[in-house]
Amino acid sequence: MKLAQTPVDEILFGEHSVFVKRDDLLHPEFSGNKARKFGYFLDNEFTGINTLIGYGSAQANSLYSMSALAKIKGWRFRFYVDHIASYLVENPIGNYRAALENGAEIIDLSLCEDRNNRDSLTYLQQCVLAGDSDQLFIPEGGRCLYAEHGVRQLADEIIMWKQQQGLSVLSVFLPSGTGTTALFLQKSFVELDPSISVYTCAVVGGDEYLRKQFFELAPNIAYHPAILPSRKRYHFGKLYSEFFQMWLQLKETGIEFELLYDPLGWLVLQDYLKANSGEKILYIHQGGLLGNQSMLPRYKRKFREMPLG
Ligand SMILES: Cc1ncc(COP(=O)(O)O)c(C=O)c1O
Repeated sequence: MKLAQTPVDEILFGEHSVFVKRDDLLHPEFSGNKARKFGYFLDNEFTGINTLIGYGSAQANSLYSMSALAKIKGWRFRFYVDHIASYLVENPIGNYRAALENGAEIIDLSLCEDRNNRDSLTYLQQCVLAGDSDQLFIPEGGRCLYAEHGVRQLADEIIMWKQQQGLSVLSVFLPSGTGTTALFLQKSFVELDPSISVYTCAVVGGDEYLRKQFFELAPNIAYHPAILPSRKRYHFGKLYSEFFQMWLQLKETGIEFELLYDPLGWLVLQDYLKANSGEKILYIHQGGLLGNQSMLPRYKRKFREMPLG
């Protein structure tokens, strides 16, 4: 199973040359940044644990990757979601389907009689996790300090690559959800090679939400990546024609990106490059391609007239 040492490609993006770290080529079950974020759990033994617990969206990349982790470890896997669309239950696809095939038990909290209006995390803390020591809980999207272990390995690979290329400075760019990957990358570079800087953009919840996530993981502001602005506020998971156009443009380079984070990432990078055209940029492809199985048909339905690449 390939869980590290991914190659770097160079693509032409408009008139700019951009390097792409191909973490999408990590093992497909660990979908890019999950192999990094869950590296700690793969590399260590957890005596006494027999069940993995998680929560999030029914189409989350983390759902699938956690199901693969549990399968490898021989754990039972229970994943809690706020609600599951009946369409998805009747027509399982993408991460949801693949997780079920890996044996995940996906629990729809909207159907739990004892929920009493509690949000997913509160319900988990009060009804599922309390007092049980044979369960291992991973927070939503893998946002936890354990993620540092695997992300540091990614940082090591980037530092080595930069040295091989003879570059004196490097800007690393990646779009953020929880900001965990970007933050631990920046922390690693501050500690190991300060000539590398991390730039990101907020794909889920806006810049303020992302800044708050950074503070929760590391109060030291030096470890926080720079957040580049997006020209417009986009809602996570919604479909935008400019996202799809960007995805199609990128597909021309021969690399397929995913449709939730990458289109906004590249739009933000495009704006940044207008004013910083000379910078050497390494874009981290964080995988997540299985999610395209459900996103592409949605785009197809919404923008019927567009070519589908
Ligand atoms: C493909 C992809 N890109 C980006 C992200 C955002 O990562 P993070 O939550 O570490 O910011 C995720 C979520 O883990 C993802 O699956």
